[in-house]
Amino acid sequence: MKGIVFTEFLELVEDKFGLEMVDTIITESDLESGGVYTSVGTYEFSEMLQLLQSLNSHTGIPIDDLLLVYAEHFFSVLKKSYPQFLVMYSDPIEMISSIESHIHVEVRKIYPDAELPTFEVVEKSKKALTMIYKSSRSMHYFGLGLMKQTFKHFNTNATILVEKIKEDGTEVKFIIQKSE
Ligand code: HEM
Repeated sequence: MKGIVFTEFLELVEDKFGLEMVDTIITESDLESGGVYTSVGTYEFSEMLQLLQSLNSHTGIPIDDLLLVYAEHFFSVLKKSYPQFLVMYSDPIEMISSIESHIHVEVRKIYPDAELPTFEVVEKSKKALTMIYKSSRSMHYFGLGLMKQTFKHFNTNATILVEKIKEDGTEVKFIIQKSE
């Protein structure tokens, strides 16, 4: 997992819960990196999982909710760091359905070792999109948060249903309906 995911996560934790919480979750986790991350480095996903589990145990906030809020923050990071991917789109359904065929393809050129999910477009129309998410990392709530912010970015609204295909969240169906 890329370092930018860790650095931004820890910044958000500091923002919401304070520096002491950052220290606590790093100390409590068994981290090969020692909790020192650079944005371009690459680290084990298991480190992120431990940090999330530790934060969950201290705050009582479910991990899925932590990922959702984190993704909403991460979208603004993406907007600032990679504006070139956003200006190409004028419609959220066009943008979200292009994650697999365009955006993450470009991300892989920048970070060849990025660990990205796959998104298969099952059905697409002007107002609706069904996609299947697959990833060993089960970060579908992170995907949900990014999708929600994508709609917000284009000043639109949508209902997004999340249906687990596999109980462990490694395969999930997203059913997106744009509302006017
Ligand atoms: C992960 C880039 C938009 C879904 C990532 C990562 C990067 C990235 C750098 C981390 C990879 C790693 O840690 O190795 C971008 C950029 C975007 C974008 C530059 C647009 C400007 C989106 C959108 C979605 C999405 C709109 C939702 C449909 C995900 C998910 C992950 C991820 C779910 C977590 C990894 C996993 O589940 O396996 N993305 N992304 N991304 N991205 Fe994107």
